[in-house]
Amino acid sequence: MILVTGAAGKTGQAIIRSLSASGFEIRALVHRKDHVAPVTMSGADDIIVGDLSDLPVLKEATRGAMAVYHICPNVSPHEVEYGRKIIAASQWAGIGRFVYHSVLHPQIQAMPHHWAKMLVEEMIFESGLPFTILQPAAYMQNLLGYWDTIISGSLQIPYSADTLLGMVDLMDVADAAAIVIGDPKHEGATYELVGPDRYTQTELAELLTNILNITVQIEQVPIEKWEREALSKGLGMYQVDTLVAMFGYYDRNNFWGNSTVLGWLLGRKATTLKTFLHRHLS
Ligand SMILES: NC(=O)c1ccc[n+]([C@@H]2O[C@H](COP(=O)([O-])OP(=O)(O)OC[C@H]3O[C@@H](n4cnc5c(N)ncnc54)[C@H](OP(=O)(O)O)[C@@H]3O)[C@@H](O)[C@H]2O)c1
Repeated sequence: MILVTGAAGKTGQAIIRSLSASGFEIRALVHRKDHVAPVTMSGADDIIVGDLSDLPVLKEATRGAMAVYHICPNVSPHEVEYGRKIIAASQWAGIGRFVYHSVLHPQIQAMPHHWAKMLVEEMIFESGLPFTILQPAAYMQNLLGYWDTIISGSLQIPYSADTLLGMVDLMDVADAAAIVIGDPKHEGATYELVGPDRYTQTELAELLTNILNITVQIEQVPIEKWEREALSKGLGMYQVDTLVAMFGYYDRNNFWGNSTVLGWLLGRKATTLKTFLHRHLS
């Protein structure tokens, strides 16, 4: 039995689908009762509804599990607290493998949500738990969050057109998760998971133009405008400040990594952005 936390998000459901397809039995920790049906559909065998801040719930969830796949909610101000508690519950339960869904380059202090994951990684090293850490780049699937705008011909970005970004297909990440979680040879490993190509935003707009057969133009949104709109849509202050810091980092430094490890883990070339986009369209 593998416990997956943060199970109802896009990451959690992708991981559950992949673990389930590989034959693992899955227990999912979800936040709300209305998450039970979609997570069951994704392949979870057993579901616990509860909060990652609740240690007794985490003990109930880890009891009898052979492994934990820990996914913290995205851009959470509580990443370190949740990390500390799920590590404590995993120690209590004596689980055989703790897999942490981290992020590419958690070492970057200028991005608070990355740095929080660095602190959780440090706690994992000190926990004595048998661990594997996965560090995915930004998902290609994030593009689908503003797909309507893209197919209306506008790539709206709060950083410059020259910004070079590498992404990864979440399905490749989920396949890698299913490969590492039950195999002792991946114990104690930290793996960066990145797709094989990287694009400036100008090149991305060109790729979208070619694939969609419409003209997709870049519209650089001033960061103050992005901030106002995010707040008006109800995004919290911590999330807005953190994402503004992330966009600033992207703008100054680019954000990409190396795909060799992901290809090695999967035993095939990782999915290119072009292939991902064609798959989405079909
Ligand atoms: N997006 C990317 O490109 C990317 C790249 C690399 C790594 N990551 C990492 O992937 C992780 C998951 O991202 P995601 O977007 O899939 O997650 P998400 O949708 O933000 O969150 C996953 C689930 O956690 C639940 N949750 C929220 N607060 C909770 C609490 N206190 N206790 C228990 N569950 C709670 C959420 O439920 P509610 O709906 O009730 O809030 C949601 O169903 C993040 O840690 C992120 O940093 C993301």
